[in-house]
Amino acid sequence: MKRPQAQVAVLKAADADDPRRIDEVADEAGLKPETATRAAFELEDDGLLSVTEETVEHYTLTDEGTQYVFESLPEQDLYEAAIDAGADEDQVQMGQVIGASGLEGSAVDIALSNYARKGYGEIDSGEITADPDAKPGQDAEMYALEAVADERLEEADAEALDQLERRGLLEVREETVRSVQLTDDGVTALMAGVEAAETVDRLTAELLTSGEWEDVEFTEYNVEADAEDVSHGKEHILRQTANRVKDTLVGMGFQEMAGPHVDAQFWINDCLFMPQDHPARTHWDQFALERPDEIGELPEDLVERVRSAHKEGVGPDGEGYHSPWEEEVARGLDLRGHTTSLSMRYLSGEEIGELEPPKRFFSVEKVYRNDTLDPTHLLEFFQIEGWVMAEDLSVRDLMGTFTEFYEQFGITDLEFKPHYNPYTEPSFELFGTHPETGEVVEVGNSGIFREEVLSPLGVECDVMAWGLSLERLLMLMYGFEDIRDVHGTLCDLELLRTTEVLH
Ligand code: PHE
Repeated sequence: MKRPQAQVAVLKAADADDPRRIDEVADEAGLKPETATRAAFELEDDGLLSVTEETVEHYTLTDEGTQYVFESLPEQDLYEAAIDAGADEDQVQMGQVIGASGLEGSAVDIALSNYARKGYGEIDSGEITADPDAKPGQDAEMYALEAVADERLEEADAEALDQLERRGLLEVREETVRSVQLTDDGVTALMAGVEAAETVDRLTAELLTSGEWEDVEFTEYNVEADAEDVSHGKEHILRQTANRVKDTLVGMGFQEMAGPHVDAQFWINDCLFMPQDHPARTHWDQFALERPDEIGELPEDLVERVRSAHKEGVGPDGEGYHSPWEEEVARGLDLRGHTTSLSMRYLSGEEIGELEPPKRFFSVEKVYRNDTLDPTHLLEFFQIEGWVMAEDLSVRDLMGTFTEFYEQFGITDLEFKPHYNPYTEPSFELFGTHPETGEVVEVGNSGIFREEVLSPLGVECDVMAWGLSLERLLMLMYGFEDIRDVHGTLCDLELLRTTEVLH
C-alpha cells in the first residue's frame, strides 16, 4: 500500500499495545507536531490508527502563592497570634491580635475571611476567639501549595487546589494531549508493507503540461484541524454595526443626512423650541467652542420665525415662553449634543432645498454630551437619528417603525414610556431588555414634532422623529454590560477581536 510519507512515518512510530503521545511520535518520526497530528487524523479516518484526547492541567503558583510557601498563610499567622493572646480561652480584642500577628494592609482582610471560613475560630463585633482544636499546622491549602511548588501534584487535595485558584494563589492552564495507537487494521497494513508515496500539495503548470498530474498523489487537507489564531486589523464592531444600521434604514426607504459636528445653538436647540434658559443648554450639559465662538451665517427669515415662535408661540392660541431670546445666543457654537440639528437643517430646506412629503431621512453620527462616565454613559456616542415626513402620522406609525427596525437586530421586546421633550408632543422613550442582566435599558427617545417646531421651518405636514443610541443597541445585541468595553482605553480587546457582526 502507498501512503503519504508523514502517514507512513506515524504508522511506523505508533505502537499496537500502548497509546503514545503524538509529540513523542512526531519527534521519533522527525515530523513537526502539527504534521504528525494531521497525518494521525488521516490515518484515523481510514481506520488504521486510533487517536485519543485528554486534558492535562498544569498548575503554577502566582507570586502571592509563592510568598506563602516560603512564609505561611495569613490566617495561620492570625491563629498563632490569637492563641498567644489567649483567644482559645476567652474573647480577645481583634486590634490587639492583629497588631501582634504582624499582618498589614490587604493581608488583614485575607486572614480574617479565611480564618472564619476554615473554622479556626470566630470573629464577632471586634472580638476574636480561637478554636483550640483547629489544626492550622495541617492546613490542606498550605499542603497543596507546597505540593504544587515541589511538583508532587498527586498529593494535593482537589478541593484545596480549587480553593487556591479562587484565592488567586494558583493558575491553572489546560492542555489537550493527543495519543495514538495502532488498530488491528493498522497492524495488518504494516505487516503487508506500506511505502511512502511522494505527495504533492499544489497543482503547478509543470505538472499540468508534463501530464504528471495523473500519477501523483495529492496531499489531503484537513479543514477541521485547529488553525493558529491570527488577530489582524479589522473594522470595529461599532462601525460594522453602524453600517448594518445604515443598510437596514436604506432598505426601509430612508436617505442619509450629513452635517457639522460643531454647529450653532440655533440648529441644535432654538429650532427645537428649547427655551434659551433651558437647563440642558448650559455648559453643565454641552461643550461650547471658545474659538470660533459664533457661526458665520444663519438664514435671517428663519431666525425671525423661530424668535417669534419662542416669544409669541405659533397660531392664534399659541403661547411662547415669554423669556428672553437673543440671536447672539443662537449663534453660539457647540459640539452637537444630538443629531436633531441635522434634522432641523434638512427639514428647513437649508441643506438640500424644500422637501415634498412623503420623505424619510436618517443619520448614524457622533454626538457629544458632558455626562459623567459610567457603564452606560460616555462623553460621546453614536446616535441613530431619523424622521419621517408625511400626512397624518400617528403614534402607531412611530411604534410600527421601531418594531420593524429593531426586529432586524433580533430585538422583539421593545417597551414604550411616555416622555417629555420641548420639541415633540407626544414623546416616547424606548426600552429593551439586556440579554444578560435582564435589566430594562433605555435605547432611545422619540416623538412627533410640535407646531412650534414645524411651523417656523415651513413644514405643513406631520413629522415623526427619533434619536436612538447605537451603543445601547450593541449592548442588547451582544450582551456586554459596560460601554467602555467597546470604546476607549479600557476596551476589551478579546471581545473586539472575536465578536462577529452578522448581516
Ligand atoms: N434629540 C433627542 C435625544 O437626543 C432624540 C429625539 C429626536 C427625540 C427627535 C424626538 C425627536 O434624546
